[in-house]
Amino acid sequence: MQRVEVYSYEISMNDTEHYNDHVVRLFLLAATVWGIVGMLVGMFVAAQLAWPGLNLGIPWLTFSRLRPDHTFGVIFAFGGSALIGTCYYVVQRTGHVRLAWGKLATFTFWGWQLACVLAMATMPLGITQSKEYAEPEWFIDILIALVWIGFGAVFFATLARRRIRHIYVANWYYGAFIIAVGLLHVVNNLSLPVSLTKSYPIYSGVADAMVQWWYGHNAVAFFLTAGFLGMMYYFVPRQAQQPLWSYRFSIVNFWALISIYMWAGSHHLMYTALPDWVQSVGMAFSLVLLMPSWGSAANGLLTFNGSWHRLRSDPAAKFMVLALVFYAASTTEGSMMAIKTVNALSHYTDWTIAHVHSGSLGWVAMITIGSLYAMAPRALGRPAMHSNRGMELHFWLHTSGTLLYVIAMWIAGVTEGLMWRATEPDGSLTYAFIDSLLAIKPLYVVRWLGGVLIWLGMWVMAWNLWYTAADARRKIIRPVPVPIPQPVSQQTPAPLPAAG
Ligand code: HEM
Ligand code: HEM
Repeated sequence: MQRVEVYSYEISMNDTEHYNDHVVRLFLLAATVWGIVGMLVGMFVAAQLAWPGLNLGIPWLTFSRLRPDHTFGVIFAFGGSALIGTCYYVVQRTGHVRLAWGKLATFTFWGWQLACVLAMATMPLGITQSKEYAEPEWFIDILIALVWIGFGAVFFATLARRRIRHIYVANWYYGAFIIAVGLLHVVNNLSLPVSLTKSYPIYSGVADAMVQWWYGHNAVAFFLTAGFLGMMYYFVPRQAQQPLWSYRFSIVNFWALISIYMWAGSHHLMYTALPDWVQSVGMAFSLVLLMPSWGSAANGLLTFNGSWHRLRSDPAAKFMVLALVFYAASTTEGSMMAIKTVNALSHYTDWTIAHVHSGSLGWVAMITIGSLYAMAPRALGRPAMHSNRGMELHFWLHTSGTLLYVIAMWIAGVTEGLMWRATEPDGSLTYAFIDSLLAIKPLYVVRWLGGVLIWLGMWVMAWNLWYTAADARRKIIRPVPVPIPQPVSQQTPAPLPAAG
């Protein structure tokens, strides 16, 4: 397929004078802090599963209350801050225009941080709607909705003011992410408040379950996938220093992805009171979903064709390539797990947890970290990150931690599934539940160790970002470790707006 370059690469180290990068830097800082906090809680709940004594008998430190703190912390606080920050960065660069409504953009930063702090503080206190991935109570939901409307307004207004006629594909994904997440958030959280800290959903019974998993699955689709694909479609060509392998293919994948994902949510409710045909629809759409998922992964990976040598010296590119491999792997696994007979074995076991973390640590965290390393020096007005060796160390800590985590949970999941279904000739169960727990306990320790490595990696990133920012403040000039050749552009970029 023909290679088309549709946007020019950032051309000047003074970008940051022309664009509103202040708010981008704030989100970058927040993503780093929340990454450390959210993964610390993940590490702690992993330790609680290996050593239950760590529940300590204190209600707000129990596994059940801290687990949603981990999921909210990593998905919405860490992932959300990285998504909004990169979105503001990308929409300015691809439109050659300064961010619209700067004050509203700053409001979205503080509003989002307030919502995250409130959510993270109230869940351990037991204030929760008990809806997975939508635990915060109604007053936090309203704040989130307001921030989201502001975010959408800033993004679409900037897009409307763009100076490049074409809307680059990354913006299509960011746009779909904003519209769909807004819709999902409002519909799933419709509830009747009875006090400041308690509300009841307007849905009941199996309809409530279906709405919950329509939301839950599409949170995966539009928050954990479409948003991060937006990041991927901008930063991968930039880091490969090549145009996207096939621009047309990226658009085909976009329409396929957003039209198929919405119908797959019922694969979370296999063998439940949900009508059988609805479960089958979920299974069928999940299998078809494999095509756009592989399409985007292939498009990203093939973009590196001809510049694989860059991986030797560029850890950010390494993060991106491995993220794409994990994206292909976890979506293949998801489609297989949606087959009813496979789900009969995997459901309720740690196989699901392995799938979740190959998607979240492998795909989401790696594409985020790679993109942040690519974006941070430019948003800070620096030629490169402070330490290339620091990024390299982070890459190996994160990769080995993720592999330890995912492989341990795959083995644990299949062990559990097989032990739970084993029966004696008289039909009685071969194993008591506790036998399966004892069998997988060493694997829980391995998972915790993996978590420790990943968490240490996040500290290395924080250190590196801190010193990159310090170099920027002191205007220190260091040699650039990776030479960045000027790419050939087929489209003449419009001149940047004058400073100020
Ligand atoms: C240091 C890294 C991490 C560790 C140690 C960790 C650990 C854990 C643990 C122990 C659980 C509970 C599993 C269970 O209930 O049996 C969990 C659940 C979860 N984590 Fe993580 N996690 C980490 C990073 C992440 C990241 C970066 C994300 C997302 C971006 C993430 C998303 C999730 C989700 C969505 C669940 C719920 C899974 C489900 O309900 O099936 N985690 N994590
Ligand atoms: C083609 C794409 C995908 C398909 C068809 C798919 C399918 C599935 C299936 C069948 C389950 C198990 C449901 C159950 O037995 O309870 C599942 C769980 C899950 N998947 Fe995926 N998956 C896909 C991609 C992803 C990606 C890329 C991520 C993360 C970035 C992800 C995150 C999750 C989460 C968080 C859960 C656990 C939900 C819960 O029970 O709390 N999935 N997925």
